[in-house]
Amino acid sequence: MLVTTRNWYLVRIVPAIVGAFSALCIWVLWFGANSDRDNVPSLVNHLIPAGHCACRTAVSFQCASCLQCAATTPISPSPAERTYNPVYDAHNRSLDASQCQSFFPGLYEDIHRAESFWSTKNNITRHELDDIHLVDGMARAAIVQGQLYVIAARAKGEDHRRKILGTLASINRALSSSRATSLPDTEFIFSIEDKVNDVTGPNHPLWVLARKAEEEAVWLMPDFGFWAWEHGGSESHIGPYTQVVDRILDNNVSWDEKEPKLVWRGKLSFAAKMRRALLEAARDQPWGDVKELDWHRKANFISMEDHCRYRFIAHVEGRSYSASLKYRQACGSVVVAHQLQYIQHHHYLLVSSGPEQNFVEVKRDFSDLQEKMQALLDDPAAAERIARNSVATFRDRYLTPAAESCYWRELLSGWTAVSSHVSETVSSSQLVRRGMRFESFVLLPSQDMLHFP
Ligand SMILES: *[C@@H]1O[C@H](CO)[C@@H](O)[C@H](O)[C@H]1NC(C)=O
Ligand SMILES: *[C@@H]1O[C@H](CO)[C@@H](O)[C@H](O)[C@H]1NC(C)=O
Ligand SMILES: *[C@@H]1O[C@H](CO)[C@@H](O)[C@H](O)[C@H]1NC(C)=O
Repeated sequence: MLVTTRNWYLVRIVPAIVGAFSALCIWVLWFGANSDRDNVPSLVNHLIPAGHCACRTAVSFQCASCLQCAATTPISPSPAERTYNPVYDAHNRSLDASQCQSFFPGLYEDIHRAESFWSTKNNITRHELDDIHLVDGMARAAIVQGQLYVIAARAKGEDHRRKILGTLASINRALSSSRATSLPDTEFIFSIEDKVNDVTGPNHPLWVLARKAEEEAVWLMPDFGFWAWEHGGSESHIGPYTQVVDRILDNNVSWDEKEPKLVWRGKLSFAAKMRRALLEAARDQPWGDVKELDWHRKANFISMEDHCRYRFIAHVEGRSYSASLKYRQACGSVVVAHQLQYIQHHHYLLVSSGPEQNFVEVKRDFSDLQEKMQALLDDPAAAERIARNSVATFRDRYLTPAAESCYWRELLSGWTAVSSHVSETVSSSQLVRRGMRFESFVLLPSQDMLHFP
């Protein structure tokens, strides 16, 4: 009798308790990782997995001091040998190839990196392109005689569709503003998803928005936000990058008028651990204005341009890179970012120390935030210099329409340099006769773009 009771206890009660406990743990972790509220006890925050952001080390850029490369790299002589002037050049999408090189040194680092990666791998063949399985968030396109053709597009919904269209439109704009007449025919596949492994493995020659240091096969492209970024809904209208810049310039908040505080607004459910660490580090600090954003209640919302009313703007990665960095860099404020794990095309220009310093870097757990903030507050002149470097480097130079167009064309040139097999096998006559030109693709009903053809 006693034995059977004990057996019953072992067979039923123990698994039930273990099961209930596991369920509780899973729920706590799920809650910690997904809650948007600022109400997760810090003990839970220690327990929740860092998830996709487990990497605690920074990306090490080979060329962190590219701004100085300008002086050291010999530039091929050109008739229009003069230095970059934002007043005349920033909006010129038709700079010639030698101006693209001399005006924006260091902008093409990742293209050259991918190029040398693929040249040591015996270049890119059509087979490698065909090997990429097209899933939602991807599109395949071709350039034939300088014209953009859409071969296939896969979108899960409106957000995907808008991002794919924005990317195609940016490429088309860079092509149509190009002064070069001869570009080899080519074909490529891009993804507008946040991460490479959202859509495929790391070894494909795919064009993406951001990569981790170890994802060496992919090619970085500028994000769709340069064309325009819409969350959907008129209340979260952001618009083309240059329009955000225009609104910022229109507000014209001088350094002296800016509030000497660190601002951040965002959702906690992306990269919960890191974002909560920022919240904790800034809590109750006189310099802190860091709050979670609740989209449903519209609580704590401030517009992109209103971030510029603060001297210090925190930048935190989300699921992957955060597309907001370029808006923050447009402010004339000091961007305070943790060591970044995801690389975007312009990240090589970030400088964290020295006379060219254009942002402030803190640890991924924000443990040195207090110390770095205090140093900035104690030396406002040094802080103002970093802010000035940030707009001079990014808003007024490397993130301008001129630089963006130069980058796309350099990407195409780097890509075609190591994919001659693709160029040789582009079925141009088939595309010209039956392919969908980009100009026609944009006229399709939205539904037809989602799964094209
Ligand atoms: C843009 O740059 C090209 C090449 O230097 C030049 O010929 C053209 O005049 C410029 N356009 C404008 C509007 O400045
Ligand atoms: C890769 O492409 C470049 C440029 O077309 C060429 O010079 C080189 O020989 C190619 N390498 C291989 C292994 O095919
Ligand atoms: C911005 O404001 C300053 C004075 O605060 C003024 O000198 C400057 O002309 C203004 N710039 C623009 C573009 O309105």
